[in-house]
Amino acid sequence: MAKITASVYTSHVPAIGAALDLGKSNEPYWQPVFKGYEYSRQWMKDNQPDVIFLVYNDHATAFSLDMIPTFAIGTAAEFEPADEGWGPRPVPLVLGHPELAAHIAQSVIQDDFDLTIVNKMDVDHGLTVPLSLMCGQPEAWPCPVIPFAVNVVQYPVPSGKRCFNLGKAIAKAIESFDKPLNVQIWGTGGMSHQLQGPRAGLINREFDNAFLDRLIADPEGQANVPHIDYVREAGSEGIELVMWLIARGAMADVAGGNAPKLVHRFYHVPASNTAVGHLILENT
Ligand code: DHB
Ligand code: FE
Repeated sequence: MAKITASVYTSHVPAIGAALDLGKSNEPYWQPVFKGYEYSRQWMKDNQPDVIFLVYNDHATAFSLDMIPTFAIGTAAEFEPADEGWGPRPVPLVLGHPELAAHIAQSVIQDDFDLTIVNKMDVDHGLTVPLSLMCGQPEAWPCPVIPFAVNVVQYPVPSGKRCFNLGKAIAKAIESFDKPLNVQIWGTGGMSHQLQGPRAGLINREFDNAFLDRLIADPEGQANVPHIDYVREAGSEGIELVMWLIARGAMADVAGGNAPKLVHRFYHVPASNTAVGHLILENT
């Protein structure tokens, strides 16, 4: 059977991708950001998964106001890096895992979560920047990736509780797949940031660190925090953090197993307009 071995959580700041693509990662501004992921890149090499289930949000790239799926699973064989206005990032094509993705769709939809099935979709910085942070600049990504897009851009957005419960259903789906795959689940986006309006530039270190503490030790409690608290405390784009609850809900302890092992934690301000947060939790 497939097994979820670890979850990874990280911000997805587009300027991080640009810094890497333009060879600026050693500049004094960016150096501390990339240093926070040095451990993680080695960890990825030492803990290479067969598949990454990557929870992220599309930023009006593949979807627009014409069509706003709350939860969309990418079932295609491949996904092109999107052109977000400056040409596509020079990163590898993302290969999918149609067989596992179709199995997850079947199981999760029968578990009462109404996923949208997406057979063609370009993937934006929400998905490619986390891959770059964790894997560097390889010729090919280390394994297939199942993109799972969550609407946190256009209201109404899903609650943290719904995301957490969805994570549980995803874990059940993955662990009932009849092949011995090592699967990681990644929750991406966040941390506190607001890109527009009078509060543009908002960062809340206290909120972010309390979120990290609670995501690790009391995810059920964190799942009960209403969306408006994220918006008020962490800024309008801080709502991206609910996606981390999907990955956390898929960890073994939530289904009665052992508590996960925290193997890496990193927090840094600033990167562009946002705080960068990052965790790696292993199932034990
Ligand atoms: C920035 C952050 C984001 O999460 C995003 O999607 C776009 C821009 C920023 O900090 O500039
Ligand atoms: Fe974003």
